[in-house]
Amino acid sequence: MITISLIWGISLLSTLTSGYALPEPCSGVCVNTHDPSIIRHSDGTYFRFSTGGRIAIHAAPTLNGPWIYKGAAIPRGSSINLPGNQDLWAPEISRHNSTHYHLFYSVSTFGSQTSAIGLAISPSLDINTWTDLGSINLSSSPSSKTPYNAIDPSLIYDQANTSYLTFGSFWKGIYLIPLSYSTTTSKFTVTSSNQAIQLAFDPSDAAIEGPNIYFKNGFFYLFFSKGACCGYDRSRPAKGKEYRIMVCRSTNLTGVYRDKNGRDCRNGGGTVVLESHGWVYGPGGQGIIEGEGGRPVMYYHYVDSRVGFADGQKRLGWNWVTFDVGGWPVVV
Ligand SMILES: *[C@@H]1O[C@H](CO)[C@@H](O)[C@H](O)[C@H]1NC(C)=O
Ligand SMILES: *[C@@H]1O[C@H](CO)[C@@H](O)[C@H](O)[C@H]1NC(C)=O
Ligand SMILES: *[C@@H]1O[C@H](CO)[C@@H](O)[C@H](O)[C@H]1NC(C)=O
Ligand SMILES: *[C@@H]1O[C@H](CO)[C@@H](O)[C@H](O)[C@H]1NC(C)=O
Repeated sequence: MITISLIWGISLLSTLTSGYALPEPCSGVCVNTHDPSIIRHSDGTYFRFSTGGRIAIHAAPTLNGPWIYKGAAIPRGSSINLPGNQDLWAPEISRHNSTHYHLFYSVSTFGSQTSAIGLAISPSLDINTWTDLGSINLSSSPSSKTPYNAIDPSLIYDQANTSYLTFGSFWKGIYLIPLSYSTTTSKFTVTSSNQAIQLAFDPSDAAIEGPNIYFKNGFFYLFFSKGACCGYDRSRPAKGKEYRIMVCRSTNLTGVYRDKNGRDCRNGGGTVVLESHGWVYGPGGQGIIEGEGGRPVMYYHYVDSRVGFADGQKRLGWNWVTFDVGGWPVVV
């Protein structure tokens, strides 16, 4: 009893001193949520896509669950002919029009720059409805000397409704590239890799990845994850070097992105939105959607340090976000 109340006391104290809200409750299958991407179907059901299991799909009536495992989005793996095409990463789901959904994904292997981004399409989000369209013509490799790693895709439209992809990881950081769309093939493609623009980079610590951009009140908010993502059960990085969620913003999708202190995010800038606190360790792989009442929600994965640190124990976390404090996102 004493031990339990002492632990509760310590975790409560650290929650209060860190100032971060704890994740909202989650029921059902909340683990196996590496790099989640969530969308709400028109019938109200939430669908969650995540790394591994050839893009695992879970569904729930509310963000709190109960989450149920449905199956693989791309059960035969990707048609992209690269190592990793049976272990797809970092999916990103988006609605295309009233009748179709697009799922971007990455093909790579851990720590490698030999990577490519692929695309699948479905009329309904359900398993057995996805068609793999293969590569979007965005790849990277040491021999082609690309400055980025072609992983972690996220679709975004500018004010003129031109489609872009933000993506990237390590090497020279986070990039943005225009996409063209073909109504005959239903496919987005990159027409010229020369059009990639660097949005964020830290010269002293290249460990940034997993970007996504959210438009609010005239600003494009660039969220990304920084630090060591994985394998915390085998070796944990120095305190503060584990995954955390950062933000920069710009009035122009193509940049320049700056942090709260006005620092250029191509030169080490970035403001922390969420980091380890209490029993929440290594939050990252984030995304933003509009929840009930149109209020923004930030979701992410983390490990619960009371339970375990293995990659398979990554849990779904989510919090409401306000942009009321000087126009910068705060989890509440
Ligand atoms: C933006 O483009 C998408 C894809 O082409 C289209 O579905 C959507 O209706 C467009 N939105 C606006 C506001 O024009
Ligand atoms: C929606 O997009 C799909 C895939 O590109 C296309 O087949 C369909 O005709 C589109 N529907 C409408 C209503 O635009
Ligand atoms: C793919 O990218 C290459 C290099 O940027 C370009 O030359 C080619 O036209 C692109 N292909 C398509 C189908 O967009
Ligand atoms: C954004 O920046 C680009 C490149 O500097 C510029 O061409 C474009 O006009 C800008 N767009 C807006 C909406 O300011």
